[in-house]
Amino acid sequence: MSVDTRPLYLTTPIYYVNDRPHIGHAYSTIVADLLKRYAQLQGRLAFMLTGTDEHGQKIERRATEEQLSPQEFVDRMAPPFRDMCTVLHCQPGHFIRTTDARHIMHAKRLWQRLVERGDIYMGEYEGWYSVSEEMFYTEKELLEGNLSPVTKKPVEKVRESSYFFRLSNYTDTLLAFYEEHPDFVQPQGRFNEVKQFVREGLRDLSISRTTFRWGVPIPENPEHVMYVWLDALANYLSALDAPATSSEAQPAEASARMNCFWPPHAELKHIVGKDILRFHAVYWPAFLMSAAIPLPTQVWAHGWLTVNGEKMSKSSGNFIPPEPICEAVGTDVLRYYLMRDIALGQDGDFSHSALLARYHGDLGNGLGNLLNRIVSSIAMRHCEGKVPAIDLETNAQEDTDLVALAKRVARQSAQHLEDTAPQKALDAIWELVSATNRYVDQTAPWKLAKEGAAARLNQVVYHVLESLRWLSLMLWPFMPQKCDALRQQIGLQPLMPVELLSLWPSVWGGLRAGLPLQPGEALFPRFDETQERALLERFGVHTSPAAAHTSTQPTSKDPSAMTKTQQDAPKDAFIAFDDFCRVDLRLGRIESAEPVPKSDKLLRLMVQLQDDAPRQILAGLGQDYQPEQLVGRVVTVVTNLKPRKMMGLESQGMILAVRDNEGLSVLSPERTMAPGLKVS
Ligand code: MSP
Repeated sequence: MSVDTRPLYLTTPIYYVNDRPHIGHAYSTIVADLLKRYAQLQGRLAFMLTGTDEHGQKIERRATEEQLSPQEFVDRMAPPFRDMCTVLHCQPGHFIRTTDARHIMHAKRLWQRLVERGDIYMGEYEGWYSVSEEMFYTEKELLEGNLSPVTKKPVEKVRESSYFFRLSNYTDTLLAFYEEHPDFVQPQGRFNEVKQFVREGLRDLSISRTTFRWGVPIPENPEHVMYVWLDALANYLSALDAPATSSEAQPAEASARMNCFWPPHAELKHIVGKDILRFHAVYWPAFLMSAAIPLPTQVWAHGWLTVNGEKMSKSSGNFIPPEPICEAVGTDVLRYYLMRDIALGQDGDFSHSALLARYHGDLGNGLGNLLNRIVSSIAMRHCEGKVPAIDLETNAQEDTDLVALAKRVARQSAQHLEDTAPQKALDAIWELVSATNRYVDQTAPWKLAKEGAAARLNQVVYHVLESLRWLSLMLWPFMPQKCDALRQQIGLQPLMPVELLSLWPSVWGGLRAGLPLQPGEALFPRFDETQERALLERFGVHTSPAAAHTSTQPTSKDPSAMTKTQQDAPKDAFIAFDDFCRVDLRLGRIESAEPVPKSDKLLRLMVQLQDDAPRQILAGLGQDYQPEQLVGRVVTVVTNLKPRKMMGLESQGMILAVRDNEGLSVLSPERTMAPGLKVS
């Protein structure tokens, strides 16, 4: 695996302050913070920037609506965005506001450099403008009725004198740059769209406005204010010349920060939403080329958080603020859920029920339970409450297997994070959570204690604690506070990354024997059904009692993902709890599997449910699984589905599976469980 050792400069978009922050904004900030923390764990110097975009027509109009001056308005609206960082456990090196005097100076300086290059000229702009996006559109790009293709809202016709940037001069230079930097935009599919847009030929860009006042005045002609996107993009430069707002290790002097964190000395990565990719991947590089400033390393365009497939936004009325969720279940749970359920480049439907399912499932039953069962239930009682001393050289086969798996997981998850694929990293890390739980099941330390097998018991406890230590490192970028709480329970200090020192786990056995264990509160205390219902009510989600426990994937039918109007839909859109109870879901073990002749999809499975003979179930898994991969798997079965014939064979039930873009996956419990158990 190759780890970049250069300093890392990570940016989020700066957020418009026309409204309060919601979890769509939180998403970019969390991604940047987690990548920063990961880099720090690898010993890299990392600087994260976020902030607010406070100029432009949209803000001016909102201020007028509120009967405030624009400055009063932005002074009132910016603090919740700053506070959001704290709520989200994000630690930016600087929080920039585009109304900061220093930023305005830098925006003007950038303008000046474009002028000196001969890339700015005066003209007249006549065309379409979307105030909500602060974006110009050509007639061709609009939807019928002169609607913006993104917001589907009417755009305005404008005609005014304007300065233009000679963007058209940069078509070839940009294409050549893209050619030389094949990873400049991620994901690749989005890069292709960008290239296509540029290949079609770029038109000069209007970069000043005269019909409103709220912006950076143009130095040579204050009648004009700078186009808000040129002003906003300059923030990435001006922020390096601002006093640091955090005490993290970083050069104190502004000039040193520019030298340290700007390419080519550093890796500069912009995290943006897919809707603002063009500004970052086309206009921004062109401005920088014109100003003879080195270009960013990468622009990473993530997808949108949606509610029932619609982009979450204040104007659609379907927005969800982060604070109530963080208060109710904890910030780290929100961070984990967003990173685990949604692949970074794709859109993902937000669902409170899916969040709670992750809480109880992966986090509570998986990680929390692992910690609890080994520290409180075993080590405190049978190992004198300390990390036991063991001989690391004499291992049983299951120990060796666990260590090998942990090492593979550490390598793979690091690679996924290098590739900005947090979801894949978590999938890999969870292999270790599950494997360690399985290891506890197999080695049965409670039995070892009963039998007085002290040496083996110590060995088992040590390996589980060491696995937890590894997990506390790998999961720290995602859940910093929970990981520190976990570390405390296994006798360790909170994590403090150190420059030039990689703390990413690679050597098994780092946990020092004798450390006093400190069992504490459950990391993810269980909510009973009533508490959970109360929580969902608090989130404004009206759900049937069982819904939250059973749903693990956000779906467009998930009641929690519904907008207010949809929640008010006729009641028969939901099933009653009793209806749900009529479905008999049980675990079943697949005893044998074979293809059904003449079908390319159907497999004939013999599934053991309880003590009776296995029953025959036909499942359409043949394109995603080889029959032998399924034998021995414990899966979830709908047992009381009316039998039906397929390809001449009777199927006596249904296997539950879920599909994403990588294919089908059958639903199995996280740890070894007996066939016949009821799923509820
Ligand atoms: N001010 C500009 C960015 C200037 S950067 C130099 C802007 N602001 S915004 O507040 O409208 O959006 C900021 C970011 O939040 C964008 O990346 C946008 O994609 C993201 N999101 C806003 N709603 C979102 C979701 N529902 N889901 C995910 N991200 C979303 O554009």
